[in-house]
Amino acid sequence: MPHTVKAVIARYKGAKAELVDIVVPDPGPGEAVVAVQACGVCHTDLHYREGGISDDYPFLLGHEAAGVVEAVGPGVTKVAPGDFVILNWRAVCGQCRACLKGKPWYCFATHNATQKMTIASGEGAGTALSPALGIGAFAEKTLVAAGQCTKVTEADAAAVGLLGCGVMAGFGAAVNTGGVQRGDSVAVIGCGGVGNAAIAGARLVGATTIVAVDVDDRKLEAARRFGATHTINSRHSEPVEAIREATGGHGADVVIEAVGRPETYEQAFYARDLAGTVVLVGVPTPDQQVTLPMIDIFGRGGALKSSWYGDCLPSRDFPMLVELARQGRFPLEDFVSERIGLGDVEAAFAKMHDGLVLRSVVEISPSQRPQA
Ligand SMILES: NC(=O)c1ccc[n+]([C@@H]2O[C@H](COP(=O)([O-])OP(=O)(O)OC[C@H]3O[C@@H](n4cnc5c(N)ncnc54)[C@H](O)[C@@H]3O)[C@@H](O)[C@H]2O)c1
Ligand SMILES: [Zn+2]
Ligand SMILES: [Zn+2]
Repeated sequence: MPHTVKAVIARYKGAKAELVDIVVPDPGPGEAVVAVQACGVCHTDLHYREGGISDDYPFLLGHEAAGVVEAVGPGVTKVAPGDFVILNWRAVCGQCRACLKGKPWYCFATHNATQKMTIASGEGAGTALSPALGIGAFAEKTLVAAGQCTKVTEADAAAVGLLGCGVMAGFGAAVNTGGVQRGDSVAVIGCGGVGNAAIAGARLVGATTIVAVDVDDRKLEAARRFGATHTINSRHSEPVEAIREATGGHGADVVIEAVGRPETYEQAFYARDLAGTVVLVGVPTPDQQVTLPMIDIFGRGGALKSSWYGDCLPSRDFPMLVELARQGRFPLEDFVSERIGLGDVEAAFAKMHDGLVLRSVVEISPSQRPQA
């Protein structure tokens, strides 16, 4: 029987996040219904709300989540009711040209649920929702493709849910896309949840110099805790010069741009050493442009990369990071700045905008956990 549950939507460009009732259908073939326990507020939700990603309103927001599988549809074998899972937005298909080339982290045909969740009543009743990143987890329950559920050891849902997007994206931008290794110098521009996860990742794999750049001193304090060896407030110092100074005058081996703006991309481009790597993990809006002298693109060599979801493989990376966190070797809990309710998402956007939090996490009481 379909369920009617509370969920947070964005009705139109710029509309405030709104708590409404939605209908979640029973899972069809290859689908799963997940009782969401916690879901982080990522900057990408705000991008959706503001029309920066697409115009497919109304959006069902939320996509950094963990919960318990409540029901699965026909043909689902890899997860079962009662499993504790982190939701991912890269349900690898195994058959597209990227998968067939042995690079499934790029999968070009990732799976989402095929049925739609809809607005239950009132204004727009019956309208199909577009779930953010194919997840839509600011909701008591959500419908996803079963491949979007990665089973992990049960843990604090608020913390491990962050692996579903921002923390995985930042960690992977450094470790997978940037290929940071022991002894490397790394600079991270933008130290929100994503940038600080890149810093924590760089520390974990043994980078010796980690330069954090932000315009907000509170974010730089956090960056120190996650492993930055140098911090630069780019409101007060010229960041390219300051990064060069911190890296023996050369620039960093890997520079990670975790803001998504032309000026910070340009800083990243010039702040790396010759033959160094730039990783763009910040998401730009469609109108943004960069102009660079071609001679500098050639002359500086190296690699200009973009990082989709930290080039992660959820099945490989989520259990590994949950285990490192359990052993106290990866500070996942430290990304949770506050725990809030479903009705507080709009306030959380404001706090994110004002730089007050790394991650606000919506906690939803665990519902109807089947007994194993
Ligand atoms: N590539 C991916 O797969 C992926 C996944 C998740 C998020 N993202 C993107 O990563 C970016 C960061 O996300 P977040 O959740 O950490 O956001 P956030 O708002 O928490 O952090 C952004 C940080 O950038 C800082 N900043 C803003 N302007 C700056 C400037 N000019 N110079 C230096 N720092 C500046 C802010 O002070 C803040 O600390 C967003 O664009 C988000 O959409 C990408
Ligand atoms: Zn594929
Ligand atoms: Zn996200």
